[in-house]
Amino acid sequence: MQIHTTIESLRAARAGAGRTAFVPTMGNLHAGHIALMGQAREHADSVFASVFVNRLQFGAGEDFDRYPRTMQADCEKLEAAGVAHLFAPDESVMYPQPQRYFVAPAPAQTAILEGEFRPGHFDGMATVVLKLLNIVQPEVALFGKKDYQQLMIITNMVREFALPVRIVAGDTIRTDDGLALSSRNGYLSPEERAEAPRLHRTLARIRDAIRAGDHDLLKLETEAHAELAAHGWAPDYIAVRRRADLQPPAHMDDALVVLAAAKLGRTRLIDNLEI
Ligand code: PAF
Repeated sequence: MQIHTTIESLRAARAGAGRTAFVPTMGNLHAGHIALMGQAREHADSVFASVFVNRLQFGAGEDFDRYPRTMQADCEKLEAAGVAHLFAPDESVMYPQPQRYFVAPAPAQTAILEGEFRPGHFDGMATVVLKLLNIVQPEVALFGKKDYQQLMIITNMVREFALPVRIVAGDTIRTDDGLALSSRNGYLSPEERAEAPRLHRTLARIRDAIRAGDHDLLKLETEAHAELAAHGWAPDYIAVRRRADLQPPAHMDDALVVLAAAKLGRTRLIDNLEI
């Protein structure tokens, strides 16, 4: 695997790489990322990945400083996963001057759910993703469904700006007890780790109830909220939404997804399940 720390080096490698699939990450790679790398290989001659912890998408008081940086281990995992090129710029490469131009996705998509609790997050995320796509210029780019709202915003950005890339979604990878893999799981104490799968179980209960014909969404969301709170969680939201735009469903035959974010101790976890 070749490691590129400059845009020039990355572009020179890209020029001879044939059909390219790209997986952007913030590092601290787990099996969910590695599954995306494997999926990427099915779409391309060469797989490119990036590791860049993007300051722009972290709010004040969030975990930018303590976000785990594990470059050596990440390189070994990427190499083993068959990634040909890693783009690992530092901030002086990605932001040689303070970024003044931002992608501002539609407020209807950024003021809800994650956006309500992480103001500015999606502007920073979309800005770096646009920049990374411009640098790598892949035919295909892959993003996990665990960040469902992020995936929707990127898909819409690509469509609305007519970017010449196809976005492919990767399924969420879970541990045996249901916890969605996330770099932030590493923040959990042993007791919190034992409790954490409740988030998935709570979402699964809502999914199963809706599939069984219970359409009282407010009741289901309220019960789920109470269940988490009773076990020491501080839920930000638990919401059943349309998959297409993450707005409240108008009809129960819309394709739906249930999404949640909740704090367990100092750790904020997110998860979702398609219904
Ligand atoms: O999902 C992530 O890891 C990040 O939001 C991304 C897409 C790499 C942009 O920084």
